[in-house]
Amino acid sequence: MLPRSGFSAKPLIFLSLYAALLLPGLVLAAKKAPLPIPLELEKSAAPTPWTRYSGWPDTDWKEYNTLGKLASPAYAPPPKLEGPLTGDPKNGEKLAFDRSRGGSCVACHIMGPATPSMPGNVGPDLSTIATWGRGDEWLFNYVYDARSVNPVTVMPPWGAHKLFTVDEIKDIMVFLKTLKEPAKFKDALENPQTRPIPTETRDNLDPFVNNATQALDEAQTLYAQSGPSGKSCASCHAKPEQAFKTWAAKMPRYEPRLKRVLGVEEFVTRHARAATGHDYPMQSAENIALSIYLRNLANGMPIAVDIRLPGAKEANARGLAFIDRKLGQLNFACSDCHDKAANKWVRGQYLTGQVGQVAHFPNWRTSRAEIWDLRRRFQWCNVAIRANELPPDAAEYGDLELALTAINNGQKLNVPGIRH
Ligand code: HEC
Ligand code: HEC
Ligand code: HEC
Repeated sequence: MLPRSGFSAKPLIFLSLYAALLLPGLVLAAKKAPLPIPLELEKSAAPTPWTRYSGWPDTDWKEYNTLGKLASPAYAPPPKLEGPLTGDPKNGEKLAFDRSRGGSCVACHIMGPATPSMPGNVGPDLSTIATWGRGDEWLFNYVYDARSVNPVTVMPPWGAHKLFTVDEIKDIMVFLKTLKEPAKFKDALENPQTRPIPTETRDNLDPFVNNATQALDEAQTLYAQSGPSGKSCASCHAKPEQAFKTWAAKMPRYEPRLKRVLGVEEFVTRHARAATGHDYPMQSAENIALSIYLRNLANGMPIAVDIRLPGAKEANARGLAFIDRKLGQLNFACSDCHDKAANKWVRGQYLTGQVGQVAHFPNWRTSRAEIWDLRRRFQWCNVAIRANELPPDAAEYGDLELALTAINNGQKLNVPGIRH
């Protein structure tokens, strides 16, 4: 329609231009704006107060670093080795082979013909160390605190972190000075250089093989169960196979309302509390079942967490730093075992690298007859190196999970997994 003469056309043209630019945007925004996801934001998602699993070591290693707190003593040069070296080689051998004293030297070293069964090979074979011409002071320093000789060592500081006394270290040294002969292995399995690498070939989705598949049935029941709000998951999400086909592959993600990283398990706790009224704390049977279910719906999807998003970028950077943080009395970083020592043996356990560690969680652990989610594995890898674990909903584990999952981007989800 043309404007009548005397009426300026300009404002109209501007107006319609304006509308043409703005309207599609508005329509799009109205169509795209997602409903805010109901989340309970106030309470802890983990059982409080957190107590360590029974059957796990119950020592409080509060003098040493955790992912939550820096507490380990600062590095200090080892004490001077005074006078001529004396000690009891038999006691030294006993200490070197004693599993209860930090895992024993045999976790990482072969130590001559007397080496106990299934030694590891993270460190060099020490079977002939007596012939290497190592000076007493050098040797003492290396065992007391290898950082004094090698700043990037992965060996625990046995003296500085009070795993052995100075006298015990002298006994161990005297024992080391008896080692002149290569170890003899009775078969290829005993020798960590020839030991066959374990491969996981069991069909993890076969219910006769993987007990965690039962959780899938339990989850279907839970999914249809109404909670105190009168609603069930199914009331709001009638077609989960369609709705959640890719969702779990993009988790964890940074949640601005919580100001930290939210994984599938914590999402289940907080979303169920807000939407159905059910309380499924992290690592409860219900929580694990629903988490397995939601991940299983995305099986086959490549992991695709986005670490460029606001909040996620910073969380990922923190997570990467946590991977390199020395933890616990044994002073190990995740990367010491799963990067520097990856594809080697600690005693009878073959260390995996970081790629391949995530896509099959939660999984059935045959050696424990339990289902473990990823956070429980983090907790165990803390306690195993004598570091206090954190509650499963700790923000630090969120950062760590994000960083580790991003390292696994592209790996296809395959849940529930099965592992020794
Ligand atoms: C977690 C694995 C690990 C454990 C456990 C371990 N070591 Fe080591 N050790 C290493 C590694 C790796 C090296 C070489 C590089 C380094 O320091 O990271 C090494 C090096 C050494 C060396 C120096 C060898 C040389 O070049 O002369 C000595 C000595 C030694 N270890 C003794 C011990 C004794 C004694 C124990 C037990 C009290 C022990 N180690 C336990 C990993 C370990
Ligand atoms: C009262 C309705 C309601 C109930 C009950 C409900 N949800 Fe939701 N859920 C929502 C809304 C709203 C969203 C956000 C919009 C969307 O993704 O559909 C959502 C989103 C989700 C998402 C995707 C989250 C994301 O980050 O995009 C998952 C997964 C999910 N719900 C699972 C469940 C499960 C499992 C249950 C049962 C414990 C459940 N929901 C119960 C309303 C509900
Ligand atoms: C002393 C060595 C050691 C350290 C340090 C360590 N782990 Fe482990 N971790 C193991 C062993 C042994 C296993 C079982 C064998 C394997 O899968 O590597 C394991 C398994 C895992 C798994 C499961 C792998 C799978 O495919 O099922 C994850 C995930 C993991 N560790 C994460 C971590 C994280 C994160 C840290 C740091 C907080 C850490 N680990 C520190 C020894 C270690």
